Formats: sequence, C-alpha cells, structure tokens
Amino acid sequence: MSKIVLPSGFTFDYTNVLNEWAVTDEDMRNEFDNVANAVKAAAKVRFNGVVDGHLSKDGTPEKVLFPELPYVEDDHLNSEAVLKRLEALGAHAKESIDAVVSFGIGGSYLGGKVLFDVHCGEFWNQKTAEQRNGYPQLYFSGNNADSKRTKELIDALKDSAARKESDFKVMLIVISKSGSTIEPMSNFMVVQEAMLQAGIGVEVIAVTDPRDDEKETLLHKLAVSQNWPIFAVPDGVGGRFSVFTEVGLIIGAVIGFDIRSFLDGAKEIDQACKSGNMLQNPALLSAILKYIASEKYGRTIEVMMPYGDSLKSLAEWYVQLLAESLGKEKADKSGRYGRTPVVAVGTTDMHAQTQEHQEGRLNKVVTFVKVADWETELVVPHTYADIPTLEAFSGLDLATIMNTALEANSEALTGDKRFNLTIELPTLNAFFLGAFMFMQCWAIFYEGQLANVDAFNQPGVEVYKKLLGPKLAAHKNK
Ligand code: PA5
Repeated sequence: MSKIVLPSGFTFDYTNVLNEWAVTDEDMRNEFDNVANAVKAAAKVRFNGVVDGHLSKDGTPEKVLFPELPYVEDDHLNSEAVLKRLEALGAHAKESIDAVVSFGIGGSYLGGKVLFDVHCGEFWNQKTAEQRNGYPQLYFSGNNADSKRTKELIDALKDSAARKESDFKVMLIVISKSGSTIEPMSNFMVVQEAMLQAGIGVEVIAVTDPRDDEKETLLHKLAVSQNWPIFAVPDGVGGRFSVFTEVGLIIGAVIGFDIRSFLDGAKEIDQACKSGNMLQNPALLSAILKYIASEKYGRTIEVMMPYGDSLKSLAEWYVQLLAESLGKEKADKSGRYGRTPVVAVGTTDMHAQTQEHQEGRLNKVVTFVKVADWETELVVPHTYADIPTLEAFSGLDLATIMNTALEANSEALTGDKRFNLTIELPTLNAFFLGAFMFMQCWAIFYEGQLANVDAFNQPGVEVYKKLLGPKLAAHKNK
C-alpha cells in the first residue's frame, strides 16, 4: 500500500496509480525538473503572491493569495477581525432571522453549498428552529435563471412566513465578485420584490469586491447607497478558491458551521503541501500523478466519486476548480490542456456509471473520497431472517455497506488496471472538509505549473458572455 497519512489521520492513497502497470517510478523521474520548478513556483507564490505569467481579466499582473487563507493573522485576508465580524453575523442570524437566501453562481455558490450540505444535510429546512439550534433555514438561489425553481422558492418562503405567528424575517445574501452577474442579480431582485410585496421583512447583505475606486462594482455601489452591510470577495482570490474567504465562510457563519476548524483543517494540509518531497506532499503527488496519467497514458477524464449523498456538492465544487483552472491553452501556446471532470456519487452511481468506468475506454482516473467513520449507527435488522438474500446483509451497519462497496469498486477497477486514487477522511467534519478542499486547491496549483497553464484565469467563460448581452438586449427591444 502506498499512502501519505497526516497526523490527523487524513490519508491520500495512491497505490492504484503509482505502480508498474500505471504511472511508473521512471515516469516520475522523467519529470524531476518539472516538479522542481513547480515546487519553486509554490514557494514563490507563498512568499509574495506572484505566479509568473498570471494576468487578470484586464491583462494586468494580479496576485494569487489563496495560500494565506488558512492563517488568521492581522495583515491577512482572514484576520481575527474578519472572523469575529462573521461570527457576529452568525449570532445575529441565529437571534433574529428565520430564513436566509444566498444568491450566487459558480465560485460564489459552489463552496457555500458544500458547507451547507455537509453541516445541515438534506432536511435542515424541514426542521424546527429549535432542532436547528436557532439557526435559520437556508436556501440557495441565483445559480441559474430558472423561473420555476425561483417561483417555488418564493412560495416556500411565503408558506413558512404564513405558518409563523410572529414576524418572519428573511436575510438575502447577494454574493458576486464582479457585482453584476445576471443570474444572482436577477433572482435577487425577483425574490426581494416578492418578499416586500408579501409584507415579509427583508435584510440584505452584499458580498462583493470591496474596492470603491473607479472599478467599484455595481453591487458595491448599490450596497453603499442602500446601507447594506458589505463583506468582501477579496482581490487575488478567484471564485473557485473563495470558499476559504468571506464568500464561503459567511454561509458557514449563518448555519453554525465551525469556520475556525475549517481553516484549521486547511492549515494542517497546507503544512504538508509545502514539502518539496512529493512522497510527503499529497497535493504535489496527486498533481504529478494526474499530469503523467493524462499526458502519457491518455487519462484525460477525472471521475470525482465521494461516497455519501451529502458529498455530491463537493464533487460539483471540484468540477469547477478543475475545469476552470486547467482546461485551457498552454502559456507557450504549444497545445491545450485539461481533464474533463465528472461527478459521481457512491454507491448511487455504481448502478449507473460504473459499467463504463470498469469496461469503457481507458481514459479515466477515478478519485474516491471515503469517510472512514460516519458516526452513525443504523444496523439493518434481521426482519426477514428466513430469506437468505436479505439475511446476507442483515446485522450490518449501512455505513459499513457503503464503505465496503467503495473498497469493492476500487478493487474491481484495479483488477483491470484502471487508475484510481482514494482520499480518506477520518470523519466528516469542518476540519477534514477544510483539509480536503485546500489540498485540491494546491493540487490544482501544482498541476497548472506542471502543465504550463495559468490556473488562475478563465478567459473561456468570457466568450459566451459577449454574445449573451446583445441577445438579451434584442429581447428587450421586441
Ligand atoms: O470562478 C469564477 O470566477 C466564476 O465561476 C465566478 O465565480 C462566477 O462566474 C460568478 O462570478 P461573480 O462572483 O462575479 O458573480
């Protein structure tokens, strides 16, 4: 078995990618110089926030500051004052707010959704305030322009308001770095208007680029003019890395998620991700293995397959991180890079995708995410002891069934020499979630360096935007 195990128990198992039938030791030796350069680049970005060649959307050099996020320090993006202000907002939400709606899309949505799914689970909004420990219901909107879903959300909020005897209060958190993204802004305006029409009390919080110079965002201007509290999407942190900033932490704060422990988990993995020895650095090792798997062995698809329903959004978050960071032209224009991300959830997708993973083209790396201890006990009862098929799994805990299915899936893929990795979290909590997500941020950094792509821009998403504006204007003029 080949594993990196951190002191907390966080484990990166690469047995089924680095061996004689997959990426070999010789492949790794051939990348020695490339890896050394990536390690140097990591030291540089930690030191001064500079990633050589990275330019912002408007073509000017831009700092890359995600490495400082786990460290709560006075001159950092996450300072004690920032965390205290978030915690105060959380306390206010707990005290005075019945429901929060978070508006955002892409990096302004995906990370917060992970924190919600892991901490709150599927049935949070059906619980009583007492069962939620006083924290409000939480809904997401603005991650599509879907009128059916938004109407259903408005109806649900009105129903909740009608059921409460005293005043029902809604907090609308509008998250947009650029401050004018069409989906969150349009949905915000629709929901705000509907709440006001229904006589429901509304508070608005803006989360946007905090600058107030000539580049001030529309959302910032609006917030200043309406006197809405403003939280920051800081410069130097792209949307897909922003779950560790106020963008993600604000969602954590209003649901009682332990944001300090989340940052502590990121800090533990960050220490490991500094190492120049790739057998001690899970992010670097993951990056080099996937890079060689892609470039030499044609594994250009990555299936992110956590086991557990609440982790589906974690795979969706990873999709954006991988796709927007690495799917682009190489900096020297010598070719294209990228690995197509696929979301799968175990055990569910073993009954859908696994056929293709097991017998389809040899073009995938499957990354399993395993939670070792689900801290639940739901044993299948011996209700039908005389039916051998049901008795075969009676007496077993559901979590044991799920994790054993993961092991069987990994073993089956390995039996056919199919590349697969397993990341094991000792349990599912804020600390290990922070560790997992921050490891992926560093893995993407390292792979961007190895593949010679700028992992911090996303010029490809500007192309359709240029077409959409005139098309919408044409509709208004009809
Ligand atoms: O990662 C990104 O930069 C994008 O996915 C953005 O997060 C997304 O487009 C939302 O942008 P904004 O936060 O400006 O509304």
